[in-house]
Amino acid sequence: MSSKPRQIVVTSALPYANGPIHIGHMLEYVQTDIWARFQKLRGHECVYVCADDAHGTPIMLRAQGEGITPEALIERMHKEHSKDFADFGVAFDNYYSTHSDENRYFSEYIYTQLREAGHIRTRVISQAYDPKAEMFLPDRFIKGECPNCGTGDQYGDNCESCGATYAPTDLKNPISVVSGETPIEKDSEQYFFKLENFEDMLKKWFADGHVQTEIANKMNEWLDEGLQDWDISRNAPYWGFEIPDAPGKYFYVWLDAPIGYMASFKNWCESSGHDFDTYWNRDSETELYHFIGKDIARFHTMFWPAMLHGSGFRKPSAVYCHGFLTVDGQKMSKSRGTFIMARTYLDHLNPEYLRYYFAAKLGPGIDDIDLNLEDFTARVNSDLVGKLVNIASRCAGFINKRFDGKLADELSSDDLSRHTVSAAETIAEYYENREFGKAMRDIMALADKANQFIDEKQPWVAIKDENRHSEVQDTCSIGLNCFRQLVILLKPVLPRLVAEAEKFLNAGNQSWDDLDKDLLGHSINRFQPLMTRVEPVSIKRIIEASKQDLVSERKIQQAVADQSNNSTIEEIAEEIVYDDFAKLDLRVAKIVGAKKVEKSDKLLQLTLDIGSETRNVFAGIAAAYKPEDIEGRLTVMVANLAPRKMRFGISEGMVLCAGSDDNELYLLNPESGAEPGMRIS
Ligand code: MSP
Ligand code: ZN
Repeated sequence: MSSKPRQIVVTSALPYANGPIHIGHMLEYVQTDIWARFQKLRGHECVYVCADDAHGTPIMLRAQGEGITPEALIERMHKEHSKDFADFGVAFDNYYSTHSDENRYFSEYIYTQLREAGHIRTRVISQAYDPKAEMFLPDRFIKGECPNCGTGDQYGDNCESCGATYAPTDLKNPISVVSGETPIEKDSEQYFFKLENFEDMLKKWFADGHVQTEIANKMNEWLDEGLQDWDISRNAPYWGFEIPDAPGKYFYVWLDAPIGYMASFKNWCESSGHDFDTYWNRDSETELYHFIGKDIARFHTMFWPAMLHGSGFRKPSAVYCHGFLTVDGQKMSKSRGTFIMARTYLDHLNPEYLRYYFAAKLGPGIDDIDLNLEDFTARVNSDLVGKLVNIASRCAGFINKRFDGKLADELSSDDLSRHTVSAAETIAEYYENREFGKAMRDIMALADKANQFIDEKQPWVAIKDENRHSEVQDTCSIGLNCFRQLVILLKPVLPRLVAEAEKFLNAGNQSWDDLDKDLLGHSINRFQPLMTRVEPVSIKRIIEASKQDLVSERKIQQAVADQSNNSTIEEIAEEIVYDDFAKLDLRVAKIVGAKKVEKSDKLLQLTLDIGSETRNVFAGIAAAYKPEDIEGRLTVMVANLAPRKMRFGISEGMVLCAGSDDNELYLLNPESGAEPGMRIS
């Protein structure tokens, strides 16, 4: 090991604050966390920072849909994300937010530096504009028919059916996802970053090996096509930082997002007493690594280094891209129940199973990684329970019961131990180079060796012979010392299991340097099972629960849709079982009051009598019914829908209508004779 500790800063991409963390995200955070923990285990100074990416249109609209401020939304998401990461053992040194003073400061600073150096220019451009919502529309907020194949309901950037890419203006019959209105074209002045000024710098930077070859090739293709200006501004209304010299213009979320790495690091410096400049100055000798998914490579390997370079900061030592997580060979799917939230997984299974499985599958490249659920169960049970933990459980009992918890004073052979020590350097190289799969393979081969050794020695036979007792102590002491070594090697991957194992071994916090320090004449603690098997039924439960998550996610989408007259949210009708249906409390309701909602041309506020009580319900039926026409009528309502906070008040249920076009709706009507409050089944 090198004598001088390295100073390393590591980041993972900043997850958007408009939704929960899912296991696809976790692939990245686990990969980065393993690498950061490995560096610390080797005695280096390694600081792992991250943050929520808290700006942009989707966050603004989601907050509106939930009837809360963006600040409240991002604060809630920050709590949820932090908890998910902590429970998965992802140990950030700082987890911050891009909506912070530090980030505003650095965003303004970098922008100003770029402008003063002549890297910014303005231009009037024409963009899609929603005349009803009075806002410019990002590509993803325009839908229409694909200009290439005619498939309907496609986003403004590419077609999911034929794969064509195009500009939103090319869509046929485009509509705004925000209001359902046809977008118009509108001119406005925007701010651009002149990426072309950095062409030579980037060419050299790619040639110098700061990114993986596959990524460098892709970026060089773009370089060869000629670099386009990058639009870094957005018009109000926008949720982000206003551009200092441009009132009504905001930094595009992707401008301030990577700067969030610096902001989080700065915040860490403040609380830990470190010097920011040592790490970020142009001539810094520290190392900086970004772990990201391949979908966001261009932002990190072109725009970001150019921004840093143009404003006088150091560039990343390397950007490491990974592939995407698939489940059972397919893209994660909400309806199949394989779009698994981190929290849903945590509700049912030990996070270290997944950390290990990811490690076993991860390499340094950008290939997608498949979570095959059967393979996951088999692999974890065989490797972690069957091989690793088995070594300890086979040896601990004899030591605890027959030798008063004491390991032998000397060992008859150090073959196993030396074998592990000599394998460790290669394993360290694998970790360093993100070859985690190879590291796990080698570690499990060492575990196999230890188990074979115990098999050959058969301590359970020897223990029956009075004269062979010391041999049993010897065998089990060798076995447990090997276990201790394996635990050190797996520490970056299985922090919790290792912490438990360290308690059992009673030898304190083990580091890489302890690999060759056998425990002799040493007292261990009682052995507790360190890990149980993955039960296939837990996997079934996760899939079921994930289908339920889809239902609650749709409620939120619906809330967004309600407040914005959205009629384009995807309709998904999956098969349900009777129990799902029985969960609905459908009641006959009498509309005892109905009135228009001010500032909404879609909603009516209804007072519904359901016998035992009256309910306040906002219904999107204003285009189809006048209040006076429906007062006194009977209809059908969902009475056990969770109350929902809307912009105008709390809605305590939902009335049922036929039709999905706002103008053509038909309220359901029970036959005369039905009484308010009657249950519908
Ligand atoms: N907010 C941006 C990143 C800004 S970084 C300055 C973003 N957020 S994200 O929430 O969409 O994704 C965060 C990270 O998770 C990205 O690196 C992304 O590639 C990764 N993943 C999201 N889904 C994934 C899978 N299904 N599989 C693997 N990684 C995935 O992008
Ligand atoms: Zn198409």
